[in-house]
Amino acid sequence: MIQRYLGNKNSIADYIISEIDRFCVPGDIVCDIFSGTVSMSMALKKHGYRVISNDISYFSYHFANFYLKNNCIPDFDLKALGIDKVNDTEVENQIEEQRGKDGFLFLDKVSNEDKFKKIAIILRYLEQINDNAINKENINHYFYDTYTEEGDNSKFCSKRGSIGNRRFFSPANGKRLDTIMNKIREWYQMNVLTDLQYSLLISVVCESVEKISNTQGTYHDFQREGYDARALNPLTLRWPAFDAIIGTNNSHIIGKCQDSLTFIEEVPEHSLMYVDPPYNFRQYTSYYFMLNLLSSYCEIDDLAEYFSKIKFVRGQNMEDDFDSTFCKSNLFIPSLTELIKKAPCKYVILSYYDGRNHKNKGTPRKDRGIDQIEELFKSDIFVPNSFELKSFERTNYQSFQGHSANKCKEFLFIAEKK
Ligand SMILES: C[S@@+](CC[C@H](N)C(=O)[O-])C[C@H]1O[C@@H](n2cnc3c(N)ncnc32)[C@H](O)[C@@H]1O
Repeated sequence: MIQRYLGNKNSIADYIISEIDRFCVPGDIVCDIFSGTVSMSMALKKHGYRVISNDISYFSYHFANFYLKNNCIPDFDLKALGIDKVNDTEVENQIEEQRGKDGFLFLDKVSNEDKFKKIAIILRYLEQINDNAINKENINHYFYDTYTEEGDNSKFCSKRGSIGNRRFFSPANGKRLDTIMNKIREWYQMNVLTDLQYSLLISVVCESVEKISNTQGTYHDFQREGYDARALNPLTLRWPAFDAIIGTNNSHIIGKCQDSLTFIEEVPEHSLMYVDPPYNFRQYTSYYFMLNLLSSYCEIDDLAEYFSKIKFVRGQNMEDDFDSTFCKSNLFIPSLTELIKKAPCKYVILSYYDGRNHKNKGTPRKDRGIDQIEELFKSDIFVPNSFELKSFERTNYQSFQGHSANKCKEFLFIAEKK
């Protein structure tokens, strides 16, 4: 799954689950209302909870559709996709290497292995094809043109006047990404993919692209000078680990790019709502626009028109953007209050951390957010004296300044709703 995501709870999911376990039992419904990379949704799924999951970002929907809602290994029809080569010794050797590894125990079952082998063959096919495998009218070079330094449409001029060419990807990876996305787009438009298969392919591409992006984690900017070593590795498509996907059989509810404030009005009663809000000035749909672009690329009718509207140094079409009230310091607490009031749940657990990512420009040294959230959790929305504040220190590898590991304090605000 995506690792370099601001606020990703992957490394502390078990700790949060142990708190959730105090109030809920497996089989209960838990809502992950800002699900992002779906790391918490997946931790909840693994622990036997039924999960409600939603995020404003399109990539998060594809992840939720494939990883969370789905409980099987999709069975692809290679012929329908135009893939003749149904045996590949290299794929078989790689499967042997994966056998017994974390996430791949499912390979012990022959029927699982047969289906997985087809997925591995498709991913290998996508990595290896060139434009000859794509119908002429579907050949485009928008990722190369817009996001690599050799591209015709990659020039930028920043507000401060610095100029250059975008380099989110090496030119070789930009070309490879174009081929992969054009082929998936062709399949999508030919209607030969189920929704689940489509989400699988998009999730795999998003995860794989993260590993070779010339960024410090977000897509708000790229390395202006040269390339990060990882960006020079060739783009390869990462195999999904199915153990967690097929390990349980509960049904889950997912939203598709909905504002949490409206989504919460549609969800059924649930035991607990886990809230991991942004509460900083960074709009996630801008910071991770590339993942959302990959997620919608196959569905954009007029790509030429779409890419003619890109803006800013990063090259985003702002028609895709969403201005979240949770990312505005004056609207954060009112939005949170509205969300909690509307939620048909018994308990609320909210994550907050005091890392520098949560400091707004001009924010005083002491982070006011903690006091404001505490006030809310002690308000009359909640049962008197039910409020608990848990905190622990952890290493923040997601420091926006690069790869440095800062210490930050992680808080959990817990209370029972009236
Ligand atoms: C701190 S991150 C959540 C991280 C997530 N728990 C994980 O482990 O990946 C906050 C999330 O809130 C989402 N978001 C921001 N405003 C939103 C809104 N109004 N409605 C729904 N999602 C929103 C962002 O897209 C982002 O993924």
